[in-house]
Amino acid sequence: MLGRINHVALAVPDIEKASKAYRDMLGATVSAPQALPEHGVTVVFVELPNSKVELLEPLGEASPIAAFLAKSPDGGMHHICYEVGDILAARDRLIAQGARVLGNGEPKIGAHGKPVLFLHPKDFFGTLIELEQV
Ligand code: CO
Repeated sequence: MLGRINHVALAVPDIEKASKAYRDMLGATVSAPQALPEHGVTVVFVELPNSKVELLEPLGEASPIAAFLAKSPDGGMHHICYEVGDILAARDRLIAQGARVLGNGEPKIGAHGKPVLFLHPKDFFGTLIELEQV
């Protein structure tokens, strides 16, 4: 069911500082920051030869990453995103096996314009999983 790793997302308290570190210290190709108010984050894409890293900074009062950064003020790995061919089939298979899908269970359009779902971290060993249909 799982395909490639689409991205790994890191929550960061200061996206300018994090972008500079990835660009200047690590020598990566880093996009300009993009505000995604509907997702409550500002995002920067770090392009790698085999995948992407996304840097996420909270945007607005109800940011979904605010609680994470309150617990981990230096930042940290927030989620990993795996590609799937059919997100509804993947969801139904997971629910049938007792996994919890976050929200109302319906895919939302993610940062790349594709349908995404999130799976409860307690069902997957402490890591928040995003599935993206590609
Ligand atoms: Co993501």
